[in-house]
Amino acid sequence: MPTVEREGGQYPFLYLPETESTNLYLKNLLLEPDGVEEFTTVRAAFQTAGRGQQGNHWESERDKNLLFSVYLKPNFLLAKEQFLLLQAVSLAVKKFLDSYTHDIFIKWPNDIYWKDRKICGILIENSLQSDYIMESIAGIGININQTQFVSDAPNPISLKSITGEEYDLSLMLDEILLRIRKYHDLLKEGDWGDRETIVSEYKQALFRKDGFHLFNDGDCDFLARIYDVLPDGQLVLQTEEGDLRSFYFKQVRYVLV
Ligand code: BTN
Repeated sequence: MPTVEREGGQYPFLYLPETESTNLYLKNLLLEPDGVEEFTTVRAAFQTAGRGQQGNHWESERDKNLLFSVYLKPNFLLAKEQFLLLQAVSLAVKKFLDSYTHDIFIKWPNDIYWKDRKICGILIENSLQSDYIMESIAGIGININQTQFVSDAPNPISLKSITGEEYDLSLMLDEILLRIRKYHDLLKEGDWGDRETIVSEYKQALFRKDGFHLFNDGDCDFLARIYDVLPDGQLVLQTEEGDLRSFYFKQVRYVLV
């Protein structure tokens, strides 16, 4: 596999004009006997079956956006610390987008929003062995140059629609991979203070961090404010009455009005 030179080293990199899904492509590479080097990255110009969270399809017009997956080996993280990896990757994407525009937030647990519209989706697939995360495929789709969205995905937006500018996707990929690498190294080599920094940066970056907003728990809408996010990823909401309610992913959703 060809390699690409980046700050901090050379990494195997594959650019595919078309594939089913970059996450799936990397997953299949892992089955080959030669193994896969950490930070191997697969980018595609088009995915025929881009995967989203909860079995959803990820829409992306050919050649317009960043669609890529990075292979990580975060075996320094316990399985119960999986949420830290998700926080780190979300922050890397947020910080990357912050360098192009304002109003970028992380919508719990790991959607990236501009104002109240989705600009990026992240699909992290971990494989666990006993108590540790052995391997991880971090799949990231960032809407960059696409200006019209046809699927029924809620509120999509691209960077070009925000700024009016057209962007060079390969340059951007280098920038974002560097940020992922930095957060990865902070998790791997940093101390507890560094982990706490990641946790607090994540909380600071949350969409609708302040004030009361509408949420839905599957039964009904209710007004609540974000009170905390627990280490296992649970979102703790405080209702208007002062009650605390904790939710795992999929147990609650923001109501976007
Ligand atoms: C979401 O539903 O928000 C997650 C979307 C993740 C999409 C990216 S695009 C690159 C990588 N390959 C996939 O098939 N999915 C992820």
